[in-house]
Amino acid sequence: MSTQLPGTPPGPAQTSLTSPGLRGIKLIEEFDLKEKRVFIRVDFNVPMEEKGGAQVITDDTRIRAALPTIRYAMEQGAKIVLASHLGRPESREDMQYSMEPVAMRLGELLKAEVILIDDPTSDAPKGLLPGLRPNQLILLENLRFEKGETKNAREFALQMAAYTDIYINDAFGASHRAHASIEALPQTIEKKGIGYLIKKEIEMLDILLHQPKAPYMVILGGAKVSDKIPVIEQMISKVDQFFVGGAMAYTFLAAQGTPVGTSRVEKDKISFAREMIKRIEARGKKILLPIDHVVANDFLAPSKIETTKDAAVPEGFMGLDIGPKTREMYRKELQKAKTVFWNGPMGVFERPEFAKGSFGVAETLSQLTEAMTIVGGGDSAAAAEASGYAGQMTHISTGGGASLEYLQGDKLPGLEVLRNMRPSVQPTL
Ligand code: 3PG
Repeated sequence: MSTQLPGTPPGPAQTSLTSPGLRGIKLIEEFDLKEKRVFIRVDFNVPMEEKGGAQVITDDTRIRAALPTIRYAMEQGAKIVLASHLGRPESREDMQYSMEPVAMRLGELLKAEVILIDDPTSDAPKGLLPGLRPNQLILLENLRFEKGETKNAREFALQMAAYTDIYINDAFGASHRAHASIEALPQTIEKKGIGYLIKKEIEMLDILLHQPKAPYMVILGGAKVSDKIPVIEQMISKVDQFFVGGAMAYTFLAAQGTPVGTSRVEKDKISFAREMIKRIEARGKKILLPIDHVVANDFLAPSKIETTKDAAVPEGFMGLDIGPKTREMYRKELQKAKTVFWNGPMGVFERPEFAKGSFGVAETLSQLTEAMTIVGGGDSAAAAEASGYAGQMTHISTGGGASLEYLQGDKLPGLEVLRNMRPSVQPTL
């Protein structure tokens, strides 16, 4: 048996998790859950729309992604409390943010009774948990109805801790938020760890950070260059080829002096874009920009939609998708990749006239390359889903903001709080 001498700084605890980002963190399987009150923080922040006066879930991916952890806890005989935020409600009166539709969908998927508790600060969870039957579980109402949640309030955390024996975080998409259910609560709990969803998310992202197979190609799109600056900085030494699309491409094109018409350009980021192109090329690597576009004379109600013959966008038009020559160029290059990370759509994919760029990328990644393909959540995950090719990607992250923050080297509060820096074997001297 190993011992630790007094004065030796404690190392990370031994756990079953070996991925660099998970060192010192325990997996749910490392606890005895039987009859224990297990608080599982999930990310059930799912998109909804109003239909016939009711809120309807339009994509339940995040609920399904949490099922393996919930099922495991159920099989082990745990008394389960699930908790999540939903949207950004101003107050408890914003009932369109109620978890009720989530409770119903979860009950259908698990074939279990989901008891929705309106007030997580009440005695109800504590009172109900001991008598919970194996096919019953508790879901707390939207955590953001409580002011203390986003304030990371210790008082709110202690109220939840009063009915928690073991804390499990499986809310990857919310792990970059220092909120009460993510940080303050586990700070007060001794037995804590992660579920299967976070395990998979971090293992995948760690491959990108530490061992991507070359050629490693990164596709960046979406509205703003500014959102992507830290991740570009972090990746620049590892990535062999960058592909740019979406509105952010117009800032890069403007940096090269290409006319961009009325396309969205971040004027204060033009010099960053110019600098970035130079730095990438100075390392003998490539950054590909669109060589043609699908453009329109108006965003909301276009009366003219055209395809440009080259990279220049005519006066009075704005670029809303990459054009066919760009799609072809990106397809040919991406086919050579061994690792691909995709973050941000190539155009306004929600509208069929501007969806071909994003759907073309999704098709290439899923059908035409043998690369490991990782999609970084948020809008690119929605684009992959809408393309019909989502099922054939290696991994689609459930966290847009969280995956970007992780890849840009930030520490996620929801993971850091779970690292147990005490030695696994207590000193015996
Ligand atoms: C997300 O949808 O990215 C997460 O659920 C976090 O939500 P938030 O950005 O409202 O904190």
